[in-house]
Amino acid sequence: MIKADDLVLPGVAALHPYEPGKPIEEVQRELGIGEPAKLASNENPVGPSPKAVAAIRGALGDLHRYPDGSSWTLRHKIAAKHQVSPDRIFMGSGSCEILNLLAYLFLRPGLNAVIAEHSFVIYQLAIAASGGAAKEIPLGEGYVFDLDAMAAAIDDNTRLVFLGNPNNPTGTIYRRAEWRRFLERVPERVVIVADEAYFEFVRDPEYPDSLQDHEKDHDGRRMLVTLRTFSKIFGLAGLRVGYAVAREDITRLLNNVRQPFNITSLGLVAVEAGMDDHEHVRRTLEVNAEGMAYLEGEFRRLGLPFVPSQANFILVEVGEGRTVYERLLREGVIVRPMNGYGLPRHVRASVGLREENRRLVAALERVLRS
Ligand SMILES: Cc1ncc(COP(=O)(O)O)c(C=O)c1O
Repeated sequence: MIKADDLVLPGVAALHPYEPGKPIEEVQRELGIGEPAKLASNENPVGPSPKAVAAIRGALGDLHRYPDGSSWTLRHKIAAKHQVSPDRIFMGSGSCEILNLLAYLFLRPGLNAVIAEHSFVIYQLAIAASGGAAKEIPLGEGYVFDLDAMAAAIDDNTRLVFLGNPNNPTGTIYRRAEWRRFLERVPERVVIVADEAYFEFVRDPEYPDSLQDHEKDHDGRRMLVTLRTFSKIFGLAGLRVGYAVAREDITRLLNNVRQPFNITSLGLVAVEAGMDDHEHVRRTLEVNAEGMAYLEGEFRRLGLPFVPSQANFILVEVGEGRTVYERLLREGVIVRPMNGYGLPRHVRASVGLREENRRLVAALERVLRS
């Protein structure tokens, strides 16, 4: 019998599917825990914007219609916000879809993408699914990207660089000076992907907003793709909406290969309404800042080393990461084990509501003591 594995690109059959944060229902079903605190997927603990929810209610009667496949209204709205042409906005079913499409477009066997060690696992999966190779560069001091080493690793066969800023799972950022130096060094044929899923949470004044580098280089030579998402600060992870800002030749290629209705009708109306909900964003930032300060303080008190984070999650060293994760599950707290990220001594916890953060700390204390 012919094996399906033998008919696909090399490496694809050996991939392991992305392991998401454990769903609340699964913990309820398997462990009989009434209301677990889910701090595993860097979601917005405040919930979705009420404006987005109202817009969804209003659109339910039209579910028999296909959505606008060009996302016209939403793209124009996002374009106006960033003051770029709507043709430079590409909407994706979450930024994950765009990561996949970029790898699909620009890689193939024999070509490679440069990524950092301990960065978002989807980069590796997207690269491998395209038949390309990943050149993985170790992080520098303090779990920060070594952009100089990443630039130096680019060779004649490199077509992509995936950069998470802030990076998941470390929560660290690269700063303006390194970024500028990096941009100068990267050859023209390399597509630079600045994945800024956690952009809105960053407080560091030296954080480079990569959209600024499109402006200067409007139709320039550089191939820069900025990714943003509505899954994090906007609290709409369940709807799957993200976007890329890029040169028109890149957005055109992305449109050539995407599925025709990649953004659902509910996703379109919810984001159109939710992206202007400044009160919801303000409240989310407030909850995150307070929760982050609390967790840092408690980790210090417990003597647990952590990586200072610019995002809505924090990487903390707990010893045997998977064991601690499993015991926290039984305590009703879902965090993320980091074995798949090459960090077996850490877990990653998303910042939750005050009560959820308290539950995490109390459970962690019990687990580490026993
Ligand atoms: C760095 C990074 N990029 C992209 C994403 C994906 O977001 P989306 O929900 O838009 O696909 C995540 C989600 O966790 C992330 O951590």
